Amino acid sequence: MKFGTFDDSAREYVITQPDTPLPWINYLGSEAYFGLISNTAGGYSFYKDARLRRLTRYRYNNAPLDMGGRYLYLRDNNTGTYWSPTWMPTRVDLDEYECRHGQGYTIITSQFNGIKSSARYFVPLGESLEIWQVTLTNKSASDADLSLFSAIEFCLWDANDDVTNFQRNYSIGQVEIVDDVIYHKTEYRERRDHFAYFACSEKLAGFETIREDFLGAYRGWDEPCVVETGKSVNTEAHGWQPIGSHHVKIYLKAGESKQIIFILGYQENSKDDKFDPPGSQVINKKSAKKTLEKYLQPAHADKVFEELHEYWTELLGKLQVSTPDEHTNRMVNIWNAYQCMVTFNMSRSASYFESGIGRGMGFRDSNQDLLGFVHMIPERARERILDISATQLKNGGAFHQYQPLTKRGNNDVGSGFNDDPLWLVLGVSAYVKETGDWSILDEEVQYENEAGTECPLYEHLQRAVQYTLERLGPHDLPLIGRADWNDCLNLNCFSDTPGQSFQTTTNKEGKVAESVFIAGLFMLACQEMAGIAKHRGDKVGIEKLTKASAEMEKTVWAAGWDGDWFRRAYDDFGHVLGSKENSEGRIFIEPQGMCVMAGLGVENGNALKALDSVAEHLATPHGIVLQQPAFSQYYLHLGEISSYPPGYKENAGIFCHTNPWVMIAEAVVGRGDKAFDYYQRINPSAREEISELHKCEPYVYAQMIAGKDAATHGEAKNSWLTGTAAWNYVAITQNILGIQPTFDGLQVKPVIPSAWKGFEATRSFRGVRYEISVVREGTGNSVTLEVDGKSIDGTVIPLPNKETKIVKVKAVIR
Ligand code: GLC
Ligand code: GLC
Repeated sequence: MKFGTFDDSAREYVITQPDTPLPWINYLGSEAYFGLISNTAGGYSFYKDARLRRLTRYRYNNAPLDMGGRYLYLRDNNTGTYWSPTWMPTRVDLDEYECRHGQGYTIITSQFNGIKSSARYFVPLGESLEIWQVTLTNKSASDADLSLFSAIEFCLWDANDDVTNFQRNYSIGQVEIVDDVIYHKTEYRERRDHFAYFACSEKLAGFETIREDFLGAYRGWDEPCVVETGKSVNTEAHGWQPIGSHHVKIYLKAGESKQIIFILGYQENSKDDKFDPPGSQVINKKSAKKTLEKYLQPAHADKVFEELHEYWTELLGKLQVSTPDEHTNRMVNIWNAYQCMVTFNMSRSASYFESGIGRGMGFRDSNQDLLGFVHMIPERARERILDISATQLKNGGAFHQYQPLTKRGNNDVGSGFNDDPLWLVLGVSAYVKETGDWSILDEEVQYENEAGTECPLYEHLQRAVQYTLERLGPHDLPLIGRADWNDCLNLNCFSDTPGQSFQTTTNKEGKVAESVFIAGLFMLACQEMAGIAKHRGDKVGIEKLTKASAEMEKTVWAAGWDGDWFRRAYDDFGHVLGSKENSEGRIFIEPQGMCVMAGLGVENGNALKALDSVAEHLATPHGIVLQQPAFSQYYLHLGEISSYPPGYKENAGIFCHTNPWVMIAEAVVGRGDKAFDYYQRINPSAREEISELHKCEPYVYAQMIAGKDAATHGEAKNSWLTGTAAWNYVAITQNILGIQPTFDGLQVKPVIPSAWKGFEATRSFRGVRYEISVVREGTGNSVTLEVDGKSIDGTVIPLPNKETKIVKVKAVIR
């Protein structure tokens, strides 16, 4: 069952029923001011950091779902009937409803009793504010006497404190209401130099800033007293829960239309210019007022909306494809790329599953996210790499997380996740392949953000590789540390205390438990490093890397191969995991994907064996589960992985992040049909028809789909902020469609399904537009290229001279 439909030409998903199985959300903002918005206007906003600078409240874990948002109420002043034009929070049954989620904006349109409403929410580029552009049209035959109310609830800035420290917070709330603008100034009189403002383009009939006066005590947002009676009380909040609500009276003749604009914004003042007059306790509103004058004009709002649209056209335009499959087309051209940008902005901080107060930026997550957006925003990717690498430890290791505001490593979580540093190598190499910017390797970067420790980035990468080599276990495999990619495989943790963090509590020395996955990742990193070393003429480096990688390969065949698949790990007792010897956790997906990606077994046939084992033991119609058989009980020596009920998350859930590794591996061994089949199983668009089961948004990937051991097999969770976005983008664009940046130029080497006759693509790469046309003439995977009419050797297109802007590529597959 579907709850909406794709409008590909508008680049929108159109939700046609408000009560979707879960709130289906979208993101506003792309630089500093951000918001989450659901299909019924739920969500919240923040400036830069979802925890420390949260503007509005949202209630996670609430009943009904999705409470707190950018609410509007309409009231017919003749009859007293009122409703929400975005359905929530009144949930009055609307005559018409439609929500369009696009890139950085959401438009919710509805009609009730002849009154049509369209609310367009977006954040203009370069500004710290959001615009709600509301157009009301009287579609009935008689005049309409209406009241329109807005409503938001202010968060007292620190979102964590806001939901815990009530004894303080009930006394600190402050607002100012001046010239019909509501200013939220909690803590501004002391150490904060920022405030929020909420304004409306119309003369107000009234306003509210005290929540309980607006709602009425013991009432919810679905039946506010003020809306019910149509009478504002015009109150000024002191403590408790400050809100912002405007009341506008609107008289619409039959057929008449009117636009009303609301603006919610964030403003900082310099410390010595906070008050006006100086020495008073009154907010200096000069800059906010200037901004408002501009943005409360409909024509200006339209103009900046167009600019936002253009911005996205440009970003998405870097790669556009036209294949025989519509799901592929819309994911590659629109939604998957968009999701990659959202993971760039949010990392894992704020979604409907991430509270915005939990996690900072992950070291490994951020490096992997980069793979999905580097071609769209290379300059910002560069900045990101330099930020991340400056948190790297002197010993080559990494803080597992760092804080977006300070860009410092997070001491609470600490380090010791032994895969972490290797992802930096992959991130940097992806950046250089995309841009050809070799200068980044000579950037002087600090360790642990400490002045005086500066070293060229190249050396950071060398230390990352060295970090693994200095931490080998009894089988000469890499020691796992707190965990590797699988945060829940905690082989040194041995936690028996409820609530203890599996990631930060460690009871074992960590000198025994080893990871085959890290071995594969290490080999992949060595290959990338060798490519970099070659360009730098670092002969010693190449030799060292080649040798280290060859030794690691030997080790894998000796201790990491189980006969039909790659083993997963050795635990603290030296017992194998992910082997036929195990009764649970006999086969894991991660090493199969990673080792084959690193080229292991491609020559000796073991890669095919491993992938066939994946197909036999792990693949389901909803995607590939993480391991089998699921852990039926909690195992002290395995950690969090066995804490989840079977079929969920890392305990045999379909952890979608890992699926594209298998897709890539299938492409590496030349099985395009299999690669694409796996791609489609978790492609959200291809799953749209089963939305009632899938539950999450059909336009973005979710971290997890419940596995075959779960009662709810096929149900997705944790949509939006997941490494799944970047890796699926890589798998489909670089390995299946085969358009892959290399150090020496763009490679075109598709491994597509046998039934495809070909496809077309345009790709911007290093300032050149490649117009690619792929034709299948045979059933195999051998590719020959014609570039601007001339055939070339191999599949990497040599970089053209500086003047060339367009290159035409014809690829024939035989
Ligand atoms: C989460 C984490 C990621 C980890 C994965 C598997 O997605 O953000 O770092 O690799 O879980 O445990
Ligand atoms: C939990 C989750 C895992 C995530 C981790 C982050 O362990 O299961 O997916 O990576 O938290 O710390």
